Amino acid sequence: MSAVPMQTSQVRQFIGRQETKGLLRFITCGSVDDGKSSLIGRLLHDSQKILEDHMAAVKADSQRWGTQGEQIDLALLVDGLQAEREQGITIDVAYRYFDTERRKFIIADTPGHEQYTRNMATGASTADLAVILVDASRGVQVQTRRHSFIVSLLGIRHVIVAVNKMDLVNYDHAVFQNIAAECRHFMRTLGIQDVRVVPVSALMGDNVVKPSLNMPWYEGQPLLEILDTVDVSDDRAEDLRFPVQYVNRPNAEFRGYAGTLVAGHVRVGDQIMSLPSRKTTKVKEIVTYDGSITEASAPMAVTLTLEAEIDITRGDLLAHPDRAPTVAREFDAHLIWMAEQPLLPGKQYEFKISNQYVRGTVQRIDYRVDVNDLSRHAAGELKLNEIAVCRIALNQAVAYDVYDLCRETGSFIVVDRMNNATAGAGMIRRSAAVKAHEVHGNVYTEKLEITRQQRANQKSQQPCILWFTGLSGAGKSTIANAVEQELFRRGYHSYLLDGDNVRHGLNRDLGFTDNERVENIRRIGEVSRLFVDAGLIVLTAFISPFRSDRRMVRELVEAGEFIEVYVSTSLEVCESRDPKGLYNRARQGQIQNFTGISSPYEAPEAAEIMLDTSKLHVDDCVAKIIEYLEASGRLKL
Ligand code: ADX
Repeated sequence: MSAVPMQTSQVRQFIGRQETKGLLRFITCGSVDDGKSSLIGRLLHDSQKILEDHMAAVKADSQRWGTQGEQIDLALLVDGLQAEREQGITIDVAYRYFDTERRKFIIADTPGHEQYTRNMATGASTADLAVILVDASRGVQVQTRRHSFIVSLLGIRHVIVAVNKMDLVNYDHAVFQNIAAECRHFMRTLGIQDVRVVPVSALMGDNVVKPSLNMPWYEGQPLLEILDTVDVSDDRAEDLRFPVQYVNRPNAEFRGYAGTLVAGHVRVGDQIMSLPSRKTTKVKEIVTYDGSITEASAPMAVTLTLEAEIDITRGDLLAHPDRAPTVAREFDAHLIWMAEQPLLPGKQYEFKISNQYVRGTVQRIDYRVDVNDLSRHAAGELKLNEIAVCRIALNQAVAYDVYDLCRETGSFIVVDRMNNATAGAGMIRRSAAVKAHEVHGNVYTEKLEITRQQRANQKSQQPCILWFTGLSGAGKSTIANAVEQELFRRGYHSYLLDGDNVRHGLNRDLGFTDNERVENIRRIGEVSRLFVDAGLIVLTAFISPFRSDRRMVRELVEAGEFIEVYVSTSLEVCESRDPKGLYNRARQGQIQNFTGISSPYEAPEAAEIMLDTSKLHVDDCVAKIIEYLEASGRLKL
C-alpha cells in the first residue's frame, strides 16, 4: 500500500483496472434437459459465491419440488423464475455474475429452444467464450450444431464443450471420445479454432470446479480452470476505432468529441481521419473526467480535441488514416431477424451502425440459412428467428469494418420505423462496393454505346415517370389514360403501365401479400427505369400502398424524373363507387389483404401533384398535370 493517499484520478484508474482486468464474459448454450442450469448452479455453488440465505431458500424448494430427491437441486439456484420452474424451460437471457481470485465472470444464460435464436444472439454478441452443453447420454443433437453455428456467427472464438451427465454413462471414456471427435469436427468446419471438450457431471461436481476422481483418463483442466486461464487478449481489434457519441461544445473556446474507444489506441499528436468525410488532422488533447492524459486505449471513454476544426458530427468514426475502415453504402451481412413482422426486401428500415442512424433497405436476401443443418434456401422474406445472408443498401455511405475484424464497427441493428423497435441484428461479412463492370455473382454491367440522352434527344423529349398512387377506385387509371392521350396528341412518346394489366402478364405470379406488393412495385420500378432510359414518358397506375416502395423507385432515376401523383380520393368515396365490386366482396371477407379494408395504404407525405377526384373532373386533373410538366420544363410550351 502506498503511504501517500491516492488522488481521485488514481483511485479511479485503479478501480477501472480492477473492473476491466480479468473480466470474462461467456454464454452458456444448452437446454434444461442437458443440465445447463445445474452446471451454472454448480459453478456458482462450488466457487462459493452463494449467499447463505439464498441456500436456505433453495433447500426448502428442493424438498418441495423434489427433482433430485434429498440432494440440493442446484438448477433451482438458476431457474429463478417461478414460470420457468413450472414449465421446466428457461425463457430469456439472464445475466449472472461470479468471481474467482483471478477473474470476474459474467454469464449470459440463454435458452436452448429453437425459437429463441434471438435471445441467444443477444447473449452471444458480447461474449468472449461459449460453453456448449452436450448430454453424454444422448450425444450430439441438432441443437448442438445450431448453438455452434450461432456462436461462430457472432464471432466467438473460444468454445468449451461440456459433455455433461458423464455419471449416467458410467464415466465411460469411449462415449466421451466419440462425442468429442464429432464436436471438434463440426467446430472446425465452422472455423472455430479454440475448442476444448471437458467431460463433466454437473450433478456430482466432476470436472466443474475440481478435477474428477471418477475420470482419471481425462488429462485436461476442469471447466472453471479453463474459464480462469483462457487467453482472450488477442480477440480485440488493434486498429483505432472511435465512434463519436456527441460533440461537446460548452463554450466557443472548447470543442471536443466524446465517445468510447471501441478498439485500438490513440495518442496525443496522432494523425487522425474522420470518416466518412476522410478529412484529417491531429489529436491535440485527450481529456477524461479527471483531466488530460497522453494516451488512451479501448474500452476507455474519453473526449478528444483536435488541432484543426474539421467538420465532425455525431456518428462519425475517427481512425488512423493508414488503418481506416471501409466507407460505402452497400455491404453483405448475416442478418438475424428478431421481429414478429417479417423482413421485407425493399422496405425502408433504419440501420444503427456504430453511433449512426441511416435509412436503407435490405436489397435482397441471398439465401436463408437453416440453423439446424446449415443448409441454404431461397427466401423472399425473413421470419422471426431466421438467419440469412443479405445485401444491405443504405441511403448514404457509412464507415464500417468486417465483423470478423471488429465486432463493434462490424455489426448493426435494424430498426422498424413504424414502431422504433429493434427488428434485426446484422454482422457485416464483406463490402459490396458497386462499380461499373464489377462482377456481381456472375453478372456484369455492360456499358451501352447509345446513351439515354441520345435516345431522349432523338424523341425530342425529356423522359420522366408520372407515378399515380392511391386507393383502388380512386381514379388513377382513368386520369393516367387521359393524360397519355393528351401527350400522344401533342406528339410525345409514352407508355402506360397499369396494375390490372401488368398483373395479367409480367406479374401474374404475384398476389397481394405485403411482400408480393413490394415485389410488384420493384419490378414496375425497374421496367419504368428501363423505359425512361429508352427515352419514354412513363405513366404508372398502381395502388403502390407503401411509401418505402415509391421512394425506392424515386431513387432509381435522376432527381426530378420521378413525379408522384397522389390521387387522394377518400376511402368512403372509392367504396361508394366500387367500380369492380371489390370493396363489397372485401367487406364480406371474400378478398384478403384488400387495400383500405384489410391492408394499409400509406399516403404520400410530399407528392408533386395531389388530385381529389371527388372534387375535380378528369379534365381538370389532366390540366393540372400538364401544367406541372410545362412549368417544370418537361413539355415544350
Ligand atoms: S399494388 O398494391 O400491388 O400496387 P396493383 O395496383 O398492382 O396493387 O393492383 C391493384 C388492383 O388489383 C386493384 O385495382 C384491384 O382491381 C385488384 N385487386 C385484387 N385484389 C386486391 C387486393 N387484395 N387489394 C387491392 N387490389 C386488389
